[in-house]
Amino acid sequence: MNSKLDLRPLDASFGAIVNGVDLKTVGDHLFNEIYQLWLDHSLLIFPKQTMRGSDQVQFAKRFGELEFDIKSVSNINKDGSVRSDTKNDDVLKILQGNMSWHADSSYLPVLSKGAVFSAKVVPSSGGETSWADMRSAYDALDSDTKHNISNLAAYHSLYYSQSKLGHNHSTRSDYNGYGFFDQDPPLRPLVYSHPETQRKILTLGRHAYGVPGMKENESEAFLAELLEFACQPPRVYQHNWQVGDVAVWDNRSLLHQARPWDMTEPRIMYQSRIAGDEKSDFAPSPKQGAA
Ligand code: OGA
Ligand code: MN
Repeated sequence: MNSKLDLRPLDASFGAIVNGVDLKTVGDHLFNEIYQLWLDHSLLIFPKQTMRGSDQVQFAKRFGELEFDIKSVSNINKDGSVRSDTKNDDVLKILQGNMSWHADSSYLPVLSKGAVFSAKVVPSSGGETSWADMRSAYDALDSDTKHNISNLAAYHSLYYSQSKLGHNHSTRSDYNGYGFFDQDPPLRPLVYSHPETQRKILTLGRHAYGVPGMKENESEAFLAELLEFACQPPRVYQHNWQVGDVAVWDNRSLLHQARPWDMTEPRIMYQSRIAGDEKSDFAPSPKQGAA
């Protein structure tokens, strides 16, 4: 391929660092190439970009319709001070929740397709982001496990995952409530077929619970064990952010999590969330408790 891109695959089952491109000035031809690389690698990281918020939104829209255009993921108050009330601040509880493996919007009827994510302010150490490859995690399962999980599913809910952190959603909060879905939670099959690559993918993460046919604690232990197996080398990569780095991940193929940092230091990231496909990424919400 006659390309200007300098692509360096990561030392993992997925992901690549891409130099030699200014994301503000990508033509259609180059974008098609980037899109194909993104499907293949699931994670592309573009160092040293100079995008403003509006540039990021424009770039994200090329991947598809947006679930939301841009949101800060930050431990800073409106007045610039650092959020410190770990007991009561719901924004901090959401940031803390981000520190466990998850896929974005698995708790909504339509899973998100992906994200464009940029680093604006990074702490002096920690605060990395990790991703884990659920395509190769599925492939690595033994054939008995593949067979056993082929008809299993789990509910996904932000109420479930955040309540474990003492976050009981209330409207009187700095957190706007995004993701607290007020109808029956979606029930997602554990094995999902990627709508564009057809690869099989393990659907797991912190929002998942309540596998029908299992007791509550049995389901919890089962999902935890699968997750532990899945999120191991060579299926994981941790990125140490520099200001200006931009990551684009395929949320259908990967789980991700933030890594801890000293929260007296500011960390400001921006996420644009790409919407999933209403057909292939939709999960129904049957009444719970039938099992
Ligand atoms: C998110 C998220 C991870 C991070 O914004 O959805 O999980 O490293 N962020 O901040
Ligand atoms: Mn996330």
